[in-house]
Formats: sequence, structure tokens, C-alpha cells
Amino acid sequence: MAGKGAGGRAARGVRLTVNGEPVTVSGSPERHLLEALRVDLGRTGTKYGCGEGECGACTVLVDGTPTPACQVPIRELQGADVRTIEGMATGDRLNPAQQAFVETGAFQCGFCTPGMVVRATALLDRNPDPSEADIREALEPHLCRCGANARIVRAVRRASEIARGDRMRGP
Ligand code: FES
Ligand code: FES
Repeated sequence: MAGKGAGGRAARGVRLTVNGEPVTVSGSPERHLLEALRVDLGRTGTKYGCGEGECGACTVLVDGTPTPACQVPIRELQGADVRTIEGMATGDRLNPAQQAFVETGAFQCGFCTPGMVVRATALLDRNPDPSEADIREALEPHLCRCGANARIVRAVRRASEIARGDRMRGP
């Protein structure tokens, strides 16, 4: 995570990229990334669940690492590269995790889904063929209040098949 630093930094604004777009976040440097995303930047795909780092609903990628946005003060994000659920698709083309969640109906209310998809995307980036145990371990920080966990695990398995197929077909 780039540039831990001075508390006064946010007076000038913290500059970072969100889904590849340069943004500046102003206000108290102690505010968390989740608030900046949802309130300042209107990226409401990232959900507020517990606010305590316990449910995974707010998971985004910070410099490629799945991170609970409710736990990260914006002062730590100078120069960071943040990717949210809104940045997972390429144009109209869903990424493999998104596509698999839709295909398998791996949600009920959908509140946990953005965080799950972000986590699954990061998992497949580092492990293209995860076992069921790998998937369950990766999803450990995430809660699904609707009890859709079995379908979610199946969706991530399906996402790995889609991603492998995409790689064989090429860009
Ligand atoms: S809202 Fe961040 S982990 Fe629950
Ligand atoms: S689908 Fe409702 S919380 Fe997971």
C-alpha cells in the first residue's frame, strides 16, 4: 500500500486511481476508503456490511490485494491502485467470476456478491485451478447471510473453468 504518511495530507487530497481512473479524495485522512468510494466517488457497488472488517462485503483490491475497504484510512492510499466491483468487467464483458456467479445463480439477496466476486477474481489471478478447499479458504473472510455458500463455491469453480477457456482462446 503506497505512501503511509502525514495526517495533513488529505487537506490537499489523497491521489489514487480507482479502476484506472485518477481521483483525488479530500477531507479527513482518517476516513476509510469505503466511505470515499461510496459517498465521495459514487461507487456504491462496494457494500457496507459490518464496518469492522468482519464480513467481507466491502472487499476491494488495493494494489492487487483483497482488502476490506472499511478498515483502510485514506491517508494510507497515496498513489494506490484500487479496483472495485465496477472495475471487474471489460466494457460489457463480465469477467469470469462475474459470469460464473450469474450462470450458477450464486446469490440470493446479492449483498455479499461484490466482495465475493472481487475475492474470487484475486484468487483466480494467483491460482487458476483452485480446489474446493482452496476456494473455501479464500472465501473465509466473507459472510453470506443468505446461506448461499455452496453455490458460491460452485461459482468459483465454474469461474476457473471460464478463465482457463478464455486464456486458451486468447485475447
Ligand atoms: S463492511 Fe467491511 S468487512 Fe464488513
Ligand atoms: S446472497 Fe445475500 S448475503 Fe449472500
